This record gives sequence, structure tokens and C-alpha cells, in this order.
Amino acid sequence: MLNDLWYKNAIIYCLSVGTFMDANGDGVGDFQGLMRRLAYLQGLGVTTIWLMPFQPSPGRDNGYDVSDYYNVDPKYGTLGDFAEFTHACDERGMRVIIDLVVNHTSDQHPWFKEARSDPASKYRDWYVWSDSQPSNAKSGVVFPGVQKSTWSFDKRAKRWYFHRFYDFQPDLNTSNPYVQAELLKIMGFWIQLGVSGFRMDAVPFVIATKGTKVRRPVEQYDMLRTFREFLQWREGDAIILAEANVMPDTDLEYFGDEGERLPMMFNFQLNQNTFYTLATGDTNPLKKALIATKPRPPTAQWGVFLRNHDELDLGRLTPDQRAAVFAEFAPEPDMQLYGRGIRRRLAPMLAGDRRRLELAYSLMLTLPGTPVFRYGDEIGMGDDLRRHERESTRTPMQWSTEQQGGFTKHPKPPVRVISGGAYGFERVNVASQRRDPNSFLNWMERMIRMRREVPEISWGDFEVLRTSRNDVFALRYDWRNNSVLCVHNFGDEACTVRFRSGYNETGDDRLINLLSDDHSHAGDDGRHAVVLEPYGYRWYRVGGLDYLLRRTEV
Ligand code: NOJ
Repeated sequence: MLNDLWYKNAIIYCLSVGTFMDANGDGVGDFQGLMRRLAYLQGLGVTTIWLMPFQPSPGRDNGYDVSDYYNVDPKYGTLGDFAEFTHACDERGMRVIIDLVVNHTSDQHPWFKEARSDPASKYRDWYVWSDSQPSNAKSGVVFPGVQKSTWSFDKRAKRWYFHRFYDFQPDLNTSNPYVQAELLKIMGFWIQLGVSGFRMDAVPFVIATKGTKVRRPVEQYDMLRTFREFLQWREGDAIILAEANVMPDTDLEYFGDEGERLPMMFNFQLNQNTFYTLATGDTNPLKKALIATKPRPPTAQWGVFLRNHDELDLGRLTPDQRAAVFAEFAPEPDMQLYGRGIRRRLAPMLAGDRRRLELAYSLMLTLPGTPVFRYGDEIGMGDDLRRHERESTRTPMQWSTEQQGGFTKHPKPPVRVISGGAYGFERVNVASQRRDPNSFLNWMERMIRMRREVPEISWGDFEVLRTSRNDVFALRYDWRNNSVLCVHNFGDEACTVRFRSGYNETGDDRLINLLSDDHSHAGDDGRHAVVLEPYGYRWYRVGGLDYLLRRTEV
């Protein structure tokens, strides 16, 4: 069992070293630059940095094509810089988790190079081969429209190899015990260098059976226990945060009934339904997703997010629901991707509407789980749709109005900083927002601070309250004799929400507003009447055990 559950009330911030801050002026972000920005992240309230892949890589999938698991890509620095970085985080009380991409390697990895050229090599069986083209080679692609198949012919080996993702990412044969041992070794290596765990890439595929005989891949869930046990033998409180976009009825397979498998998973189900609710104001699917993903062991935790570095995957919505989200947030075909997703950042999706942005983040911060931010979202950064596929949302961090947004001194960085227009660095940047007390950044900082002070959300049991109005969503948490109530209005109209509450033991009937002085007192009929602005939200703490906020009326 984990000896500390720090991840339950963490604030996770995801960034890629290459686009965060460039210290040496070569146009590419690096560890030295990132270290200069740790005070900023600490000030924002970040407790855990999630680093996207920074190991040597040909860079054909944003680093998710690793060619050496035991090193730092020289573009970003050295292993020495990495150790300095984890030390600097440690000094500031921040933890680091890193991506663990072991479903596949790059085709430039020495293991694959040897495997393809030497049939007698021990690495041959580290990959998944077929003598002839498998009949299902065209099925199961992850990137429809871009990726043509899951098996490709290798001229060198004169055989076909399996790749769940792009053809330059040959799948590792994860059933091979030697591959499994190597995977543990990789974890052990980075743990020694000071990380607190891993965001594990593509978990359902890592544990799936692979090969020509496999018609329907079967997940070997026991592997998850092995990963977890190893990790905790090495470092008692290290975690794995799983990228597993799976159906709610398999969630417990990943967590383990007793929490003996992976402690954290991203809640993709909630993510997609949140966007549906943001697009339509209909809160029912959001409520259903919450209830469907509610069962989990006490030590397990969801990672709750809005946008990440990939497309916003809407694949689990119904076609009508998906069409509604597309219509609202990605009306142009160029904004959509793989027939199922949206390749935009959140701020432009919400047309830069501060009210809706606040609503979305207030919701994210109050959903059951640990919030996971994406760099730049705290200042409302935009996207660059001229960049291909998912690259649109991976532009450099915008720090100031200096040239290249203060990201680099290089006049032409390989990844252009967004310039001009509503989201260019001239208008959207950290420096300007820090000086403005009403900026989105300062709002976010206050919200994060408050979120950290509301452990009820991380630890408590929740209940979705019944509301007579479908566009108002009310969630109550109970933990250690405290209750918190979060109310969100997804409608574009103001409304009054009425709660029938009881009185607490001391007769104090107030709802304490956690975000302003505007507390609520019950009326003579024992009910609270809260006026919510269009897209308005409230966080309240309720005292006493006998508050009966079981029912809201609007
Ligand atoms: C999931 C990652 O989030 C994505 O960016 C990547 O392309 C695939 N896994 C393949 O590694």
C-alpha cells in the first residue's frame, strides 16, 4: 500500500520542456529555462509537475517515440540538468512525475534496429512480428485519417511488425518477461533521479495481448499490480497516473478492487461529458458520467482535466452529442481531428469568454479528483491551427511582450510563438496578467489556493444534488464532519437556486461563500435563495452534520 496519499490533494501541471522556457537561446526550451520558472509554478500553487517525454527521440510524435529511455534529449539539457531540476523542485516542495512511454519505442531505438536486422538478436522478440500481412492490418488504428494500418512491412526484417500508433512506433512485446523487466528498470532509473511517479502512456495497449493470433486484444490486468508493487518497493509513495480512455465498467480493473493496481487514472468519461455540458447546458450526461465513475477504492484518485496535449477526444459521446459539441466549439472542419476530436485550446473554444472560462475551471477544480492543468491554460493561451494535427495546441509558453513572447532570445524558434490577434503573446502573456489584479491568471491563482484548502473535494464522498433546473449543477461533498457545496450555472441566463437546508447543531444556518463575502442565510422557510449570474458559480462550506442539502429547487 502507498505510504502517503499526497496525490489525492495535489495540483498537477503538465508541460513540455521544449516549449516552456529557453535559457540558452537556441530556440528550444530546456531544463535550465524550466528551472528559472519554478518560482512561477510554485506561486501559482502547482504541487506536481508532469513532464512530457524529454528523452532522446526523433521527435515525430512530440517525443512519444523514445529512442533511449535512460537519457535526456541533448536539445533539453543533460541528465545532470535533470537531477538539478528534481532537486530544485524538491527544495520548493514540488513533486515531479514524468511520462512513461513503453507501449512502443521509436523505430530508431537501438533495440528495434537490432531486432529488424538480426533474426538471432535477443531483441527480435521484443517486438511483435508476422510473416505475412495480417488480415486485420487495417483495423484498430488510433489516428484515423492519418494512420493507415496497425501492421507495416519492414524491408530489413522482411516481415511485418505491429504498431498500435504510427508506423514509426513499433509496439513492444510487453508479454515478453525481458521487456517487462526492462520496463521496471526504466521506472527504477528515474525514481533514483528523484521523480515521484509516472504518467503511463496508453495503458490499455501496454497490457493488451498482441500478435497475429490475437483477434480481440485481452487486457492482462495483473501486469498493473506488478508495476505498482515494483514502484513502491523502490519508493513507497510513488504513483502511476494511467492514460486509459476506457469504459466506466472497467475502471475497477485498473484501480484494483482493493486499490492494489494503479492509484490514478485520467477520467476521460467525465472529460467528454463535461464538454458536452459546456456546449449545451444540459447537465444530465455530466451527472451520469460522475455517477458511472464514482466507484473506486479509497486510495484511488481520478485525474480531472479539461484540455491536454492531444485532441479533445469525443469518441465516447453519441453521434448527436458529438455533433453538438463540434457545432459549438469546432464548427470548421479544420478544427476537428480523427473524426472524433477537437484540436483547439480551451480559451478559443469558449470564444475567450471570461465567464465561461471561469465556469469551466471552477467546475474542473470541484469535480471529484485531482486537477491536472496544461501549461498556458492559466493565462488563456490560444492555438495555431496552421500547425498540423495535434501540434496546433503545442506552441511555446507566452511569458511577456518581449520578442518571441519572452520564451526565447532566438529570432526564429522551430515552433513559432503565437503572435498577433486575440491570443498572440502581445495580448496574452504572464507578465501583463501578473500586473493586473483582475487577470485570469490572478483569478486562477486564487482559485487554486482555495482548492488546496478544500480537501473535502479530494477526500470526501460526493452526492449530485437534484435540481429542478437542468442547466444548474450542484455537487455536495462530505468529509470529516465538513460539507462543501459547489453550484454551477451552465445557462446563459441568471437564475435563482433555492436549497432546502436544515440547521446545524449550533443553529448556524449560513452557507459560507469560499470565494467572496457573500454568504447565504436561510429564509424564514428554511431555504436558501442564491442568485446565480449567467455561467455563475459558487463554492460554499456548510457547517454541522445535519445540513440536509439533499435537494435543491430553482
Ligand atoms: C498518448 C499520448 O498522449 C499521445 O500524444 C501519443 O501520440 C500516443 N499516446 C502515442 O504514444
